[in-house]
This record gives sequence, C-alpha cells and structure tokens, in this order.
Amino acid sequence: MAEPKLIVLEDAQSLYKHAAEEIAHFAGEAICTHAEFTLCLSGGSTPAATYKMLAERFRLSVDWKEVQFYWGDERCVPPDDDASNFAMAQRTMLSHLGLQPQQIHRMRGELPPDDGARDYENDLRRSFGIDQGEFPRFDLMLLGLGDNVHIASLFPGSPAMGERERLAVAVEVDAPQRHRITLTPPVLNNSARIMFLVEGAGKAAAVKMALEGPRDRERYPAQIIDPPDGEVIWLLDRAAASQLSRK
Ligand code: 6PG
Repeated sequence: MAEPKLIVLEDAQSLYKHAAEEIAHFAGEAICTHAEFTLCLSGGSTPAATYKMLAERFRLSVDWKEVQFYWGDERCVPPDDDASNFAMAQRTMLSHLGLQPQQIHRMRGELPPDDGARDYENDLRRSFGIDQGEFPRFDLMLLGLGDNVHIASLFPGSPAMGERERLAVAVEVDAPQRHRITLTPPVLNNSARIMFLVEGAGKAAAVKMALEGPRDRERYPAQIIDPPDGEVIWLLDRAAASQLSRK
C-alpha cells in the first residue's frame, strides 16, 4: 500500500469544508469514469458538519442522482433514533438532496443484530453484483476514529478484527449502543479510496497510535487499514495532528 496521504487543516471548520470539497471532487471523478459514485458514510458526530455542507454549498456541484449511499457501521437502534448513524446523515444531508429511496442503503438497526448484518450482506451482494467470496469495492469509504483507535465498529480486541469472509457482522462494543453492525476489514480494505476525518485535541493520541504507534492491529484497529489497491487519506485538523512527529 502507498503511504497514507496526510492533509492537516488549520481548524475544524477548515477541515469540514475541505472534506466536503474532497468528497464532491471524488464524486465527480467517479461519475465521469463509471457513471456512479458509491459512497460509504461514517457515523458518530465528526462528519455531520461536512454532510450539512455537502447538502447546502455543494448541492449543485454533484450529480446526486448518480450517488449510492452506504454505511460503514450502524447502531442497533431504529432509523429515527437520535443515536442512529442513518438518522444523522438523513437529517444533515440525505433529506435535502432529492434522492430516490433505492439510493440509500441503510443498515437495518431495528432488526435483531445478526439478522441486520446478514440483511446488509444481501444488499451489498445485490447492489454490487457480487457472489460469495467477492467483496464490494466502494469508490470512497469515510472513516472516523475513536479515541481508543477504533474504526467503524471495529473496537480493540473485537473478534470481528479477524473476520476475513463475512461482509458485515453484528458486534457488541464497549460504548453507548453496545450492539452494532459493522463492515469487516476485507470490505474496508477493498475500497478504492479511504478517507479518515478526525478533529480535535481529544483524538491526537489516537491519531499518533494509529499512524506512528507500535504495530498492533488488535490494540489499534485503525492500523488494519491497508488497502492493497486503494488510496488512504487522513484529513486532520491541527489539534488532532498535534502529537504526530511528521505533519
Ligand atoms: C460510530 C462511528 C464511529 C465513529 C468514531 C468517531 O458509529 O460511532 O462509526 O466509528 O466514527 O467513534 O466518532 P466521533 O466522530 O463522534 O468522535
């Protein structure tokens, strides 16, 4: 894998804006080359401002009818729950883009977790036209970073870190909304492009461990990101990058 590309922005607002610009640019590139943009959204709170900017400032910059929206993970809650990653994206962006329902591939957190995971695997196979043993290839995978260096809902020590066949699995995590559905490492690493979006001094230690810490994927799940045929970009604000030796 090529070295990850680090882009450090002065502050959070600059980070959110730059992330929206990058996503709009990658969308245009994908739609030009293969008439579709498969975008896998991250959850949590960091991406909300970027999603809002995409719906407002970039509403006319992207041919949104050609974009297919997926999620890297979801909490096992109903889609209208405040904790739902789908609900956050729907509120900040999706509901403002005039999308067709079939463009939105949400993880069904309202189902029993394992049923939800298998339901998502079926959606991925159907939407990407892939068979058992094949993996979907997202044009762009967005990832946040937990302060314990987790990505999606792949937490330190999780059995899902060793998953090599399933596309999505149900996991139990040490965080609010304990039951979740997450994409697995082989799916994440099959992406054409993976973009981390990390903000704030509270994540500086996690960024340091992810990029410059001892190699230990079980302890630092973000280190598992190593796409054999894909680009990795870390979008950081200065505060989140503050403990890195290389900036
Ligand atoms: C989730 C996310 C998770 C998130 C990190 C960072 O469901 O919570 O997918 O991986 O990206 O925990 O969360 P914040 O952006 O809220 O710090």
